[in-house]
Amino acid sequence: MPTVLVTGAGRGLGFELVRQYAADGWAVLACVRSPAKAFELAALAADAAGRVEIHALDLADHASIDALAAQLAGRPIDVLLNSAGTMGQGSFAAEGIAFGRFGSSDFGDWMQVLRINSIGPMKMAEAFVTHVAASQQKKIVALSSVIGSIERNRIGGLYAYRASKAALNAIMRSMAIDLQKSHGILAAPIHPGWVKTDMGGPRADIDAVTSITGVRNMIARLDAERAGRFWMYDGSELPW
Ligand SMILES: NC(=O)c1ccc[n+]([C@@H]2O[C@H](COP(=O)([O-])OP(=O)(O)OC[C@H]3O[C@@H](n4cnc5c(N)ncnc54)[C@H](OP(=O)(O)O)[C@@H]3O)[C@@H](O)[C@H]2O)c1
Repeated sequence: MPTVLVTGAGRGLGFELVRQYAADGWAVLACVRSPAKAFELAALAADAAGRVEIHALDLADHASIDALAAQLAGRPIDVLLNSAGTMGQGSFAAEGIAFGRFGSSDFGDWMQVLRINSIGPMKMAEAFVTHVAASQQKKIVALSSVIGSIERNRIGGLYAYRASKAALNAIMRSMAIDLQKSHGILAAPIHPGWVKTDMGGPRADIDAVTSITGVRNMIARLDAERAGRFWMYDGSELPW
């Protein structure tokens, strides 16, 4: 039975990843900031016949990442999946493109967005590389965003989130080159689509089930030829 580690597992796309992988028979290491508040995840775990383990993990707190990596030492992780992410203070779902416009930057908030969206997945990969290298599938995936595509930026704005996902894409590209050589690990960023979650809002294009069905399919198809490229949930390739 393969193992997947999912960050941001308490709600949104992280929760749906846990639900689908567990239903498919995978062992799931479901990571949340506050396990005591993850009621829906606890209910899902209770129904999953021991396949879902809940772990505390705050992407902003590197000691918590190192502690979990040590706790899971010797445990192979087939897919390290970074879903946790933030757009920072305010809400794109509520404000649309007015959110994150030029002249409105709160640089403390910027740092938090970069800390979670860009540095967090980098730290996770460094902390868990030996777990992934010891597995059968050897994959590291991050949920990125088309908003991080410089080529596709036609509307401007959304500075902090955009920069954080462009940085994440650059990180995933380097990781794909380095870790394929050093450990045979396949890495890639995947855009999940515009999805109806707290982040995407109710006007988004697709639901979480559709998005994650596609993301999982893309992960299953990730091979040496597809690693280090930017994919969308529907299998199409995005420009950087
Ligand atoms: N929804 C979309 O339309 C869309 C589009 C493109 C890309 N994405 C990307 O897909 C991923 C998931 O998005 P979503 O729609 O599920 O977002 P969401 O509904 O806003 O959920 C965000 C998740 O990230 C977690 N998180 C935030 N800060 C964290 C931290 N410091 N440590 C650990 N976990 C933290 C949250 O945990 P708490 O519950 O503890 O806050 C929550 O589980 C994100 O990376 C996002 O950028 C989403």
